Amino acid sequence: MHSLSSRSSLALRRTLRAPLLSRRTASTPVPPSAAAPLPPSEDEVTMVMYGDGFSRTVSGRHGETLLNVAQINDVHQIEGACEGCMCCSTCHLIFDKETFDKLGPVPDDEQDVIDRAPGACDTSRLGCQVRVSKILQDAKIRVPSEFVNQMI
Ligand code: FES
Repeated sequence: MHSLSSRSSLALRRTLRAPLLSRRTASTPVPPSAAAPLPPSEDEVTMVMYGDGFSRTVSGRHGETLLNVAQINDVHQIEGACEGCMCCSTCHLIFDKETFDKLGPVPDDEQDVIDRAPGACDTSRLGCQVRVSKILQDAKIRVPSEFVNQMI
């Protein structure tokens, strides 16, 4: 049994809550969550990133670095420890010869970092330095299984 004051208190809470409930059910647009996939767009490029025990189709937008594409698409095999400062080589990627040639010459400062990456080869690039373009449509990009974080 409720006392008068607790009944009044309960009635008051119901009265105050009613407008809140009606506001919640209103057709207010819900902002998209940060994890929601972006709708496809014309500037989107689809590639495959693969390595030991995994293969994932990923997509990125023109101008994004491949490191960003990997991070957005949950390719955790690419670390990117220096976040694009070109001093760790943990974003090392290997391309097929045809795609590599289309990407153009490797700048000297990038090549210096690649040269210190384990398993570096003639078609190695740094994921933080290669930007998405149509050249990469359907490219198959290998993520080496071993890397050394040169920042440690
Ligand atoms: S993220 Fe460190 S060199 Fe690319």
